[in-house]
Amino acid sequence: KRVVVFISGGGSNMVSLADACAEPGFPAEIVAVISDKPTAGGLAKAEARGIRTYVFERKAYAGKAEHENAILETLADINPDIICLAGYMRLISGDFIRPYEGRILNIHPSLLPLFPGLHTHQRAIDAGMKIAGCTVHFVTEGMDEGPIVAQAAVPVITDDTADMLAGRVLTVEHELYPMALKLLAEGKVRMERGRAEFTPAD
Ligand code: GRF
Repeated sequence: KRVVVFISGGGSNMVSLADACAEPGFPAEIVAVISDKPTAGGLAKAEARGIRTYVFERKAYAGKAEHENAILETLADINPDIICLAGYMRLISGDFIRPYEGRILNIHPSLLPLFPGLHTHQRAIDAGMKIAGCTVHFVTEGMDEGPIVAQAAVPVITDDTADMLAGRVLTVEHELYPMALKLLAEGKVRMERGRAEFTPAD
């Protein structure tokens, strides 16, 4: 399966996906990395792996629709099977999602439906949570609310700072996302009537 990964920053999740895709027999290949930030550190990491990159800087476009349409035109040329949002800090509209519904994944650094949105680690700490974690979900029009594909949990440790917890969660994100992508690429999960449906393990 042909995968395009969207990033806005360091791209550590993109690197994990790229490394997984490089394993023999992995059912997906990353054919492009797209960023909304020309300064995204992940762009150099993608290029170092021979992955083609594209930058669509928001301020270069009159509005959100123009920005998304420019990306959609390039996507039409690339013709991906799957899109992985990985640290992509921009909401995508229904017009963008619809052509790819059921084929767009996102990784969010909380155990959804808890803590959608930003500052998830500090919020978990403030709430006195004893576990935290991350979620890979199908992207739908609502923010961070699509059907859940996979989750991983980590302990919240006494006196954790948000940065300490973020690092612990990021480590398991790097395991979780490739596993979730594999499920989708192999057709072992799909989105049907707004729900994630899993093929029973044989
Ligand atoms: C991290 O906070 C991660 O939890 C979330 O996006 C941020 C950047 O990730 N998914 P990455 O290193 O750019 O993949």
